[in-house]
Amino acid sequence: MVNLHRPLLAVWVYLLLPGGQSRIVGYSNGFHYQDINNGNGNGEIYFNGIRLHVESPQSSVSASRGSSVTLPCYYRYEPELSTPRRTRVKWSWLPASSITTTSPPKTFVKETEVMVAMGDRHRSYGNFQGRVRLRRSDPGDMSLVINELQPNDTGRYRCEVIDGLEDDSVTVELEMRGVVFPYYSKKGRYRYNFFGAQRACQDQDATLATFEQLFTAWEEGLDWCNAGWLADGTVQYPITVPRDGCGGFNLAPGLRSYGQQHRLRHHYDAFCFSASVKGAVYFLEHRTKLNFTEAVQACVSDGSQIATVGQLYAAWKLQGLDRCDAGWLADGSIRYPITKSRVNCGPPQPGVRSFGFPPQSLKFGVYCHR
Ligand SMILES: *[C@@H]1O[C@H](CO)[C@@H](O)[C@H](O)[C@H]1NC(C)=O
Ligand SMILES: *[C@@H]1O[C@H](CO)[C@@H](O)[C@H](O)[C@H]1NC(C)=O
Repeated sequence: MVNLHRPLLAVWVYLLLPGGQSRIVGYSNGFHYQDINNGNGNGEIYFNGIRLHVESPQSSVSASRGSSVTLPCYYRYEPELSTPRRTRVKWSWLPASSITTTSPPKTFVKETEVMVAMGDRHRSYGNFQGRVRLRRSDPGDMSLVINELQPNDTGRYRCEVIDGLEDDSVTVELEMRGVVFPYYSKKGRYRYNFFGAQRACQDQDATLATFEQLFTAWEEGLDWCNAGWLADGTVQYPITVPRDGCGGFNLAPGLRSYGQQHRLRHHYDAFCFSASVKGAVYFLEHRTKLNFTEAVQACVSDGSQIATVGQLYAAWKLQGLDRCDAGWLADGSIRYPITKSRVNCGPPQPGVRSFGFPPQSLKFGVYCHR
């Protein structure tokens, strides 16, 4: 704390209350002063207009599955401190699945701790144990480094710096690079309750999409007139071209929401999210066309495995896989990925084309993953 022997001109006057909170009782000339009320009795005013700022140059960061990501967070004092204060840093988070932007959350979801650091000591929690550290590239750098990123690490992270007198925080969204795709059961449309949809996405090497992920997909042009579950338990679908039977002409383009549905009793399709694929997806060059059992075997003989729908979508979106040959996938569906539209390869937009689930004795190519 700087001791200033200087008359109090026109200033903010803070009264330091017990517990360290400040109350504003004056007005400002642009400087910050504080009367700490426990001076030496000689009317001295202690200059204590020091403000703690916690900032992040990026409000959101996106990264690939399995990679390392840095969530930036810096703190500084204004004006600069002559003697360092002892600070504590806390990173906490809200998982993406508990962030609902569609309706006011019924219950307040508490952020849970990721890491707490004080001086050289730190502690990480839960699923983050052993995977997180502070970057500390300079004294004010409290950026969080997360290693071996998992799809369920997405959400809103809060960086909070506490120094006993002051406390400030900033949030950074972590998004996973990837692709959203609609998915329905072999048995037909609207067969999944919430838990069935969760499992179906997992089987495709994917997770239920979050609202943010579906919203981004909609912004990028996803238009799908069948309602599907999202990770927050809501049921929605994305419409870019309003039309009858999809919410009608009169509704603006956007996400149509049925809100929260009963997780056990109600049945819909799913919106899955596939994060970047490790490895490669390829169309197997083979002398003949294959039925489903032969297709599974042919990938194994080639030292790989028949690809999942999630892997095919990720390879299409993130690696530009483009192939005008229909092929089997692990769920028994037939699809092919087109990034550059051309004649005889389906509609004029890029996309993963689907022929649904034909009888497994029919012969096609196959997509493998290695
Ligand atoms: C997140 O995923 C990992 C593996 O992918 C799993 O071990 C972990 O339990 C999951 N955490 C939560 C909170 O679902
Ligand atoms: C695929 O063909 C093989 C013979 O090459 C046959 O044994 C198998 O039953 C067929 N599978 C299906 C699902 O028709």
